[in-house]
Amino acid sequence: MNRVLAHCGARYPIVQAPMGWIARTALASAVSRAGGLGIIETSSGETEACQVEIAKMRELGLPFGVNLPIRFLKDDAMLRFVCSSGVRFVTTSAGSPAKFIAPLHDAGIVVYHAVPTLEAALKCVDAGIDGLVVEGGEGGGFKNPEEVSTLVLLQAIRERVDVPLIAAGGIVDGRGMAAAFALGAEGIQMGTRFVSCSESPVHAHYKQAIVMASATGTWVLNTKSTPCIRALKTQFTAAIHEQGLMPAAAFKGIRSLYFGGDMEAAPALAGQSAGLIHELKSAQAIIDDTVAQFFAITRRLGALGGDASFG
Ligand SMILES: Cc1cc2nc3c(=O)[nH]c(=O)nc-3n(C[C@H](O)[C@H](O)[C@H](O)COP(=O)(O)O)c2cc1C
Repeated sequence: MNRVLAHCGARYPIVQAPMGWIARTALASAVSRAGGLGIIETSSGETEACQVEIAKMRELGLPFGVNLPIRFLKDDAMLRFVCSSGVRFVTTSAGSPAKFIAPLHDAGIVVYHAVPTLEAALKCVDAGIDGLVVEGGEGGGFKNPEEVSTLVLLQAIRERVDVPLIAAGGIVDGRGMAAAFALGAEGIQMGTRFVSCSESPVHAHYKQAIVMASATGTWVLNTKSTPCIRALKTQFTAAIHEQGLMPAAAFKGIRSLYFGGDMEAAPALAGQSAGLIHELKSAQAIIDDTVAQFFAITRRLGALGGDASFG
C-alpha cells in the first residue's frame, strides 16, 4: 500500500502545494475532487480567513490537508484550531516541527514536514515525523539558499530514512512523478503547476507569465538574507537580483500581483518548472494526465525490467 495514500486518504498521491492566499477552498477543492490532495494555506497570516477556509473544506467532505509554516505563525491560535477542527493531515514547513509533532499527534493528525536538506530530514525523523515533503531547490517559493536539486535530495534522503517521501520541486506531470517514484518517493507535490491551473484564484497575468516562462525564467533571490525565494524574472525581481538583497517590504504588494495582475507589485513566486508548463489546464486535467502519463512510463520501464533489457 502506498503510505502517502494511507496517510492522507486521497485517491492519488498528488498533492497541491500550500501557497499563501492561493491555496484556499477554490483551488484545494478542485484538486481534491479530481482525486489529489488539496492543501489549505496559513502562511498568509490571515488566521480567521484561513479558519473559515478549513471549515469550508470540512463541510465539503473531501480529503484535504493544512499547512502550518512554523516561522510565519504569529501565535499558537492556528495550531490549536487545526488540532480541534477534525483535520487529519498537516504539512509543516519553514522551521523546526519538533514542538508541533506531539500536539498534532495527540489530535490524531498525520504530520509531514517540508525539508530542503538531508540534515533537516534526519532531525525531523528523530523528532518523530510521519513523512517528509522533499523540496528541491528548483521549486518555487521560499527556499534554502544552499540549493540541492530534487534529483539529488531525494536520493540523499531516501538512502538514510524510511518514512514516506513526497517529492516537490520541478514536477508538473507524469514524467516528473515517475522520476520521483524511481528515486523512492511515494507521492508528489506541485506548486507552480497548480498556480497556473484554471481553478487557481490568481490573475490571468500571473498564470500567463508562468506559461510564457522558460526553464531559465526564474531567479533565486535574497540568498544572503531571509527569506530566500525563487520567483519569476520581472523588472521587480531584476532590481532585487542586482542589489542582492530584498527590501523588507517586498511582499507588501503581493495581493495586487496575485489578484490585481500587477506583475511588478511584488516577487511572483514560481519554480523552474514554469518552463515545463505550456498551457492552462483544469485541476482535473492536470491530475488525469499526470496519472495516465505516470502509468504509461512505469509500464514501459516495467517491461524493460521484465526483459532485463535497456530497450
Ligand atoms: C506561489 C507559491 C507560494 C508558495 N507558498 C508556500 C507556503 O506558503 N508554504 C510552503 O510550505 N510552501 C510554499 N511554496 C512552495 C511549495 O510548497 C512547493 O514546495 C513548490 O512550489 C514545489 O515546486 P514547484 O513550484 O516546482 O512545483 C510556494 C510555492 C509557490 C510557487
